[in-house]
Amino acid sequence: MTHTFDVVIVGAGGAGLRAAVEIPAGFSCAVLTKVHPLRSHTGAAQGGVCAALGNLEEDTPEWHAFDTVKGSDYLGDQDAIEVMCNDAPRAIIELEHMGMPFSRTHEGKIAQRPFGGHTRPVDKTDPNSKRIPVKRACYSADRTGHVMLHTLYENCIKNRVNFFSEFFVTELLYEDGVCSGVAAIDILSGEVHIFHAKAVMFATGGDGRIWRITSNAHVGTGDGFILAYHKGLPLEDMEFMQFHPTGLWRLGILVSEAARGEGGILRNSVGERFMEKYAPTVKDLAPRDMVSRAMLTEMREGRGIKGSDGTSYVLLDLTHLDPKIINEKLPEITGFARTYLGVEPTTEGVPVQPTAHYAMGGVPTDIDGRALRSNKGDIVRGFYAAGECACVSVHGANRLGTNSLLDLIVFGRRGGKAISEFLKHAELPKLANGAGEFTRDTVSKLKASRGNQKCATIRTELQDSMMEDVGIFRTDKGMAAAVAKVAELKERFKDITIDDKGEKFNTDVLEAIELSNLLDTAEVVATCALNRKESRGAHAHEDYPDRDDANWMKHTFATKGDDGKVLIDYKDVTVTKYQPMKRVY
Ligand code: FUM
Repeated sequence: MTHTFDVVIVGAGGAGLRAAVEIPAGFSCAVLTKVHPLRSHTGAAQGGVCAALGNLEEDTPEWHAFDTVKGSDYLGDQDAIEVMCNDAPRAIIELEHMGMPFSRTHEGKIAQRPFGGHTRPVDKTDPNSKRIPVKRACYSADRTGHVMLHTLYENCIKNRVNFFSEFFVTELLYEDGVCSGVAAIDILSGEVHIFHAKAVMFATGGDGRIWRITSNAHVGTGDGFILAYHKGLPLEDMEFMQFHPTGLWRLGILVSEAARGEGGILRNSVGERFMEKYAPTVKDLAPRDMVSRAMLTEMREGRGIKGSDGTSYVLLDLTHLDPKIINEKLPEITGFARTYLGVEPTTEGVPVQPTAHYAMGGVPTDIDGRALRSNKGDIVRGFYAAGECACVSVHGANRLGTNSLLDLIVFGRRGGKAISEFLKHAELPKLANGAGEFTRDTVSKLKASRGNQKCATIRTELQDSMMEDVGIFRTDKGMAAAVAKVAELKERFKDITIDDKGEKFNTDVLEAIELSNLLDTAEVVATCALNRKESRGAHAHEDYPDRDDANWMKHTFATKGDDGKVLIDYKDVTVTKYQPMKRVY
């Protein structure tokens, strides 16, 4: 079946929905999701969305931009960061007007809390002033992403956006620099559908499922990355994966940084507030790369707490906080601790460990969501990306907490606006040759598979290898081992077995396609990581422990070579006014 729309948006999280809201009546818009819009991973975002509203203390977009640049370890593009931080207050008020139920101060203003790496100068007249945490994250208890997703979905329904739920996109229809749509499997029937469109936006989220311990929903399998990559389009900065410091021990489920924003403290096995050693000024509210490294260092040096299975954790201590605050402001995460670990956060520490959380890299775009065709800045006609699957790049080598929900609404809207302008003059392009053939071929080959390998085994080995060797601390030896392991697993994938031969809701086939996407994404991530011979942000290379601005202040651009191997090129970082400095907190 072939559908024709002016614009097709793939992914129904915050970025996709915000873009869809922007498409004016008069243009037809379809949003495709492999789940249901309200099950998108944005719903798992907890602690806040930041903007320098200054509702509780003085704040400015300029301070926000400075923090974001410094947080990115000077890899973020500063023009894009300034766009995001300057637009943030407007974007929050717009959400409020759309109906988003923010938590409030006593005066009825949008409530704000501190978050890691967000600071203000103690003396604003002194450029070298000490900086302390600032209340910049607007929130709805610890369900900020959840209420944002619902608000945007309601606005899409009001605007009569066409939703295709449980449609799994498997092909980007792209030829000679022009995008003409996507092919997707209707999961319920198993039929392949073609969506012919003037414009396509990918808002497909991240790839956290490459790692064993992750906060990502099961949908985070890097699908958008790999569909673009297979068409010869580049991926930017894929080596930078953020580990959020506080995942529930062994499960990885997110325990919001808001817990530390509200006063929570990380403690090691001897009860020490260890972040005082690593970030004396901001302590537990240091950026995530630093806190995750500190936690792992404590564990490596024997000050972690050993669990029943021999793995280590540290404790998130909330016991000194007023239980009323905990229950009112952190109901979700305290519920998780009770339900999944049987721990009572008001009276005992919550076992936590770093969890793979957010891909800083992705499909490179300009500040209006237009996907780049190369590191020269030329664009793909009709193809856009926004949200975690895109790399604008506002997060560089390390994203600050609450900048991701902001990224979704700022660049989702800008992408939607750019598409609307494009649609005013665009003709429906010729459909790419062989549309849907790759999908039909893949599905029939998978269904015919009667090999000796199980997808679940390959997936577990992949996740273990990436966790061990392309995690928080990395070495040349480890990353080379991961590259070799992924190559081995890709070979073994050719010999898998698929038990379900049916058409309808064939999750066996879908999981195999997702696994294939995970393997290909992991190959790019591990290769890009092995290639970067320095430490910057989330890429802590133990053989090269220092940041090397002379040689490495540049974005990685990875493309698929003719031989199928990962080819690497570079693009300069855009610097406006923030010169690189030593990153201390
Ligand atoms: O900790 C959190 O609530 C996560 C926020 C984020 O990733 O931005």
